[in-house]
Amino acid sequence: MPDLVKKVTSKDFISMKARGEKIAMLTAYDYLTASIFDKAGLDCILVGDSASNVMQGNTNTIPISVDDMIVYARSVARACQHSFVFCDMPFGSYQISKADAVANAVLMMKETGVDGLKIEGGEEYVDTIECIIRAGIPVCGHLGLTPQSVKAFGGFGVRAKDDAEAEKLLRDVKLLENAGCIAIVLEKIPSALAARAAATVKVPIIGIGAGVDVDGQVLVGQDMLGMDPTFHPKFVRTYANLHNVITEAVKSYSADVKGKTFPNESESY
Ligand code: KIV
Repeated sequence: MPDLVKKVTSKDFISMKARGEKIAMLTAYDYLTASIFDKAGLDCILVGDSASNVMQGNTNTIPISVDDMIVYARSVARACQHSFVFCDMPFGSYQISKADAVANAVLMMKETGVDGLKIEGGEEYVDTIECIIRAGIPVCGHLGLTPQSVKAFGGFGVRAKDDAEAEKLLRDVKLLENAGCIAIVLEKIPSALAARAAATVKVPIIGIGAGVDVDGQVLVGQDMLGMDPTFHPKFVRTYANLHNVITEAVKSYSADVKGKTFPNESESY
């Protein structure tokens, strides 16, 4: 029986990789969901900027603000006694200048209580990432399909399929490791490339749509719980059908209200 109240720390990620233990990570954006994930023994929770899509109904992650992320991250951090919690730095919060990036990173750490931040990009942002790490903040990198660059990429397709982009990604992984990142997410890239990346560095590589030969996996919580039947990319495995469970529960509740069978005597004062 694992000791679930022991908090996962940044040191644990490296030792998990060293002993071949895979890291399980999911996104969450609210207290109750994070609390369930934490008590289920999940290693790591990401307060992803996918909150822009999942919580706010946007079609990409560009609109979400630092203030929005702080509200979600604070709620998740409060729930977690065991899981390590990363929060995404949203679009615009680290691109303007290094000073601005460090100020936003410090604000996000102070206001939320999360354990580290995730930042998209390689060579272009490695200096900024170094400054944030130097301030004492654990950082998770993110390469491959970096959704904040969706407009530059022209869509959400698989990245690094050609040699030039694949070589750049391998260089970026090394740069982020040398900068001191404690984990790196690789999103939607060929499995063989992700496996090569994971084999060449000590820092754990967490995949999403990057095959099995990496050091851990991350999915959006709502995707793996089957909440949106209209969104089913190939890399998502659904472990529940909460869309149907919730739909049936709401239908039953409505019928009970209209049929005057809720509340009954034992549910009344
Ligand atoms: O924002 C997010 O949910 C993410 C994961 C998909 C890795 O960055």
